[in-house]
Amino acid sequence: MTTPRFTRAIVRPPSSTFAQGLTRAALGPPDLALALAQHEAYGRALESCGLAVTRLPPDPDHPDSTFVEDTAVLTPRLAVLSRPGAPERAGEVASIRGAVEALGLPVAAIEAPGTLDGGDVCEAGGTFFVGISGRTNEEGARQLAALLSKEGFEATAVDVRGEPDLLHLKSGLAWLGDRTLAVTGPLAGRPELAGWDLVEVDLAESYAANCVLVNGRLLVAAGFPRFAAALRARGTELVELETSEFRKMDGGLSCLSLRI
Ligand code: GLY
Repeated sequence: MTTPRFTRAIVRPPSSTFAQGLTRAALGPPDLALALAQHEAYGRALESCGLAVTRLPPDPDHPDSTFVEDTAVLTPRLAVLSRPGAPERAGEVASIRGAVEALGLPVAAIEAPGTLDGGDVCEAGGTFFVGISGRTNEEGARQLAALLSKEGFEATAVDVRGEPDLLHLKSGLAWLGDRTLAVTGPLAGRPELAGWDLVEVDLAESYAANCVLVNGRLLVAAGFPRFAAALRARGTELVELETSEFRKMDGGLSCLSLRI
């Protein structure tokens, strides 16, 4: 089991058009000033974990562009530009391409008719779970699996189209290190996850399942005490971060960065 040591991250603060992005959350419009403060704290948290953080300029032409994770899949040997499943987000890939190319990795891309959002790709120590969702289609998942396989990585498809609460696979799945995954209820019994140790997130705290392991510390949404207690009981060091304004726009902690 490979535990990656991340050294770099790419983030993009929300722009003046953030509230015009896609959302099903029905939590009201985000407060941009608060979102910017939460984003700044997120960037500092990545830095405190030892990462050099590239902050791209806000991109008002693409309201969802703060959710940079959906535009690419980064591995230590290959970067794959995605092809977002929501047409409103298609232009985000061109606007991040330069920053991804600057990482110095070989760059591949998901091609039509494939669609793939990075939020559907959960890396767990050299294994990649690839969600087939409302955003990522079977062809996109197939193309990514083929690219990963050439680089020696395993890819396992997980079809979540029957789970309306999961916008992306990573809305309900995160790697906690070693052979352990955080999962929400709908994923707990899935055969694709057999053989993994699962920490199930309570239904009432399911938003917190989107957490990010960064160099031995777990970035986790603040305000979910049962999940936090379960993680601490396992000896996990937590970095709790406020995410209220991103939650309003159907975004979580992983969505806010590309990490390598
Ligand atoms: N607002 C994030 C998304 O729907 O893709």
